[in-house]
Formats: sequence, structure tokens, C-alpha cells
Amino acid sequence: MTDNTATLTIDGKSYDLEIFTGTENERSIDIQKLRAQTGCITMDPGFGNTGSCFSSITYVDGANGILRYRGYPIEELAEQASFVEAAYLILYGELPTPKQLALFRAMLAEHAQLHTSLEHHFSGFPKNAPPMAILSAMLNLVSCFHPEVLEVNSEGPEFDKTVALLLSKVRTIAAFSYRMAAGKPFMHPNPNLSYCSNFLHMMFSDPYREYIATPVVDKALNLFLVLHADHEQNCSTSTVRVVGSSRANLFSSVSAGVCALWGPLHGGANAAVIRMLEDIKLSGKPISHYLDMAKDKNHDYRLMGFGHRVYKNFDPRSIILKKRVYEVLDELQQQDPLLEVALELEEKTLKDDYFIERNLYPNVDFYSGILLRAIGIPLNMYTVLFAIGRMPGWIANWRELLEHNQRISRPRQIYTGEGSRPFVPLAKR
Ligand code: SDX
Repeated sequence: MTDNTATLTIDGKSYDLEIFTGTENERSIDIQKLRAQTGCITMDPGFGNTGSCFSSITYVDGANGILRYRGYPIEELAEQASFVEAAYLILYGELPTPKQLALFRAMLAEHAQLHTSLEHHFSGFPKNAPPMAILSAMLNLVSCFHPEVLEVNSEGPEFDKTVALLLSKVRTIAAFSYRMAAGKPFMHPNPNLSYCSNFLHMMFSDPYREYIATPVVDKALNLFLVLHADHEQNCSTSTVRVVGSSRANLFSSVSAGVCALWGPLHGGANAAVIRMLEDIKLSGKPISHYLDMAKDKNHDYRLMGFGHRVYKNFDPRSIILKKRVYEVLDELQQQDPLLEVALELEEKTLKDDYFIERNLYPNVDFYSGILLRAIGIPLNMYTVLFAIGRMPGWIANWRELLEHNQRISRPRQIYTGEGSRPFVPLAKR
């Protein structure tokens, strides 16, 4: 392998494959013509070693715990940017000027309301319907009431309007799903409130008493959403790209992303962490009991919130969240016994050879649930909040796919089933 060529030898014949090198000197071997040249495909279940695209949105360095959106370090964005600023950056590539930010905010405020016919659909869901199921369904439903978004491509005023409509309405749908389940009347968006405070208003206000988010709570929710805004080619973002690669519209693509995020190995982990911590606390058993279960190959028990396909060092988001959780609990004069359990679990795990050898560290989901608990978000809404946060990343990746005119996603396989055999009539089976 030289700087820009890898040589592959199969059955004594050599093939030169081009090396692509990215901004941060990551290298990839171009196998786009491999099957045509060699008759072979590569095999990589779970795509852990497979690049699916070229992207300029987010950079993750798993070995060094680095995360940047459009080149800006997550630590600086977490400290200084609102979610709307971070969303604009991810979507348009640059931090917004004051004028651009004001216009973006105005579009988000303008598009927060749902079509009244859409509201009626919530009553069709059972009270205990999973909010992620409602979210995925309602995102597709929104496009039925805004058919123009079905034709939108990746740029121009129509795209900008569609982005604002989606980013704004995902928040309203989430809040309304909570209100429906709680048997409470919908609280409609207040255009005078910020993105996060408006969501919290729609979640927690009542007809006779408006909920006004304190700066601490508004800032905590902004931080949560900034930290979840994108994360390169994770499972749900890859799903959005695969669906979008058939040139399916943006709403059906992100609706599929919601479904992928729902899984406990992905976005569902934030709620699973809280359930795990509650189990540990209520059981009275020592942490070592749970570590042993997690290490026992005969047990499918896993420490939720630990491990990551890319980060083989700390997930920088978990470090930021852990620090902020302390501050928010302190500012809200709250104590959460689950934080003590989480701290002990982290301490014991980081000293355990099994976890050290496998580079298993707390990921973004380990402390994020404790932050959401502190600001009063109900447990079954945690992954929905993750979806609201990830929406800018999903939209930006869907747009980039179209800008690159990327081919439809269609992986290959190695067949391991039966060889050819004649049909057996029913009477002879
Ligand atoms: C997110 O990709 C992203 O960027 C995702 C995300 C984003 O922002 O989009 O960062 C958000 O989804 C974070 C991950 C949230 N999920 C969890 O916390 C669930 C618990 N974590 C694991 O299930 C697991 O670590 C994954 C799913 C996160 C990663 O799975 P991999 O990369 O396929 O790793 P693996 O299952 O092959 O594990 C490697 C080894 C195995 O042991 P051995 O076979 O080598 O003996 O590590 C072990 C695993 O058994 N292992 C764990 C473990 N995670 C991995 N053992 C105990 N507890 C765990 N949590």
C-alpha cells in the first residue's frame, strides 16, 4: 500500500485500488469496481469497516474522543451555541449571522403549528402507544398535509421552508404525543418563546397556568439537543441515507430514521440506562453483581450506556453531560439517587479488565437520561428527545446524499442456502 494505492492480490493476479484520504488523514480503499474487476465482494456485517459516503458534516475521531460539527469542536458548541444555531450550522455549513439566525428562528416559529386535521389523528392512537411509533407515523402524515414537501430537492427556498417545517413540527408532534397519552389538552406553540422553551411550554403548560422554563432548564435542554444533533454515519443516519438513496422524500426518510433510533442498542439506550440504574438501586445487590452479568457470555445482559462502535476512548458528549448534570441538579436544588448509582457503576467499570480490554466507556446515553429526569421529561419521551436533537443531522445527510447524486444503496451478500432443487408437489411431501 502506498500513499494513494493499495494492491490486492487474488489467485496470483494483482489489482491496484485507489486510496482516498480525508481532511483528517483518514484513509479508505476504493472498492467501487472490486466485483467487476475480481468477481469478489467484501464482507463486513454491521459495516464497522465500511465507508458508505464522503461527508463534510461531522467528524468523529473515536480513538481520541473528538467530535466536531462542520469543524467546530463539540465542547465549544455545547458551551456557546443554542440548538437552533447548531442546527443551522449542521444544515448550512456555517454558523448563522445574527440576521440569518433571526430569519431561521422566525421560520421555525411560523411552522410550529400542526394542521388541525393532523391534530385529530392523535386521538386514533391508544393512550399507551409508544411515542416513537407516534412520531414516526406522524412525520409521514405531515407530508400528506404538505404535499409540496414530497417534491422538495436539496436546495432553494422550498428546501429552507421544508427544513424549518420539519424541525419545528417534530417538536410539536412530540409534545402532543405526550399530552395525548396524559389525557391533557394540546397546548399550542407560542411563537414568542425560544425553540426549547416553546417545547417545554407545549409539554407542561395548562390552560389555566403557563409553564415558563427557567434559564437553567432551557439551557439544559439546549445542551441535550446540541449534543445529539449529528454523529456521522450512525445506525439511524445511515437508515435515512439508505431510504433517501431511493429518492424517497425527506419526511419518509427521517420517519425511517426514527424507527432505527428506537432500538435499545441505539437511541433507545438513554431510557434503558435509567431503567438499569433503577433496577440496580431497587435490587440492593452490589454493582459487582451487574458487572458479572454483563461479562457472562451466557447472559445477554449489557450495561446500557456503555460501549460504542466508534469511540474507543471516552465519548466527549458523556463527559460534557456528566459535568452539566451536577450543575443542573445543583442549580435546581435537586438530588437524584440514580446519579450516585451511575457514578459508582462508571467507577467500577473503568477499573474492570473486561471493560478496559474492550474499550467500553460511558457513551452519550449514560448520563443524558439523568439530565432529562432533572428537567422533568418523562422516561418514555427520552428517545423522542434524541430524535428531535438528531433531526438536523438526518436532514443534512439526506441533503448531502442528493447533492452528491449518490447511487441507490444496494449492498450484496454471500448466499449460503440450498443449491438448485426441483419443486415437490404437495401430494409427495
Ligand atoms: C448511540 O453510532 C453512533 O454514533 C451511535 C450514537 C449516536 O450519537 O448516534 O453514539 C448513539 O447509539 C450510543 C450507543 C447506545 N447503546 C448502548 O449504550 C447499548 C449498550 N452498548 C452496546 O450494545 C454496544 O456497545 C454498542 C451497540 C454501542 C456497540 O456495539 P458493537 O460496536 O457492535 O460492539 P460489540 O457488540 O461487537 O461488542 C464488542 C465486545 C463484545 O464482547 P466480546 O464478544 O469481544 O467478548 O464488547 C462487549 C461485547 O459483548 N460489549 C459489552 C457492551 N458493549 C459491548 N459488554 C457489556 N456491556 C456493554 N454495553
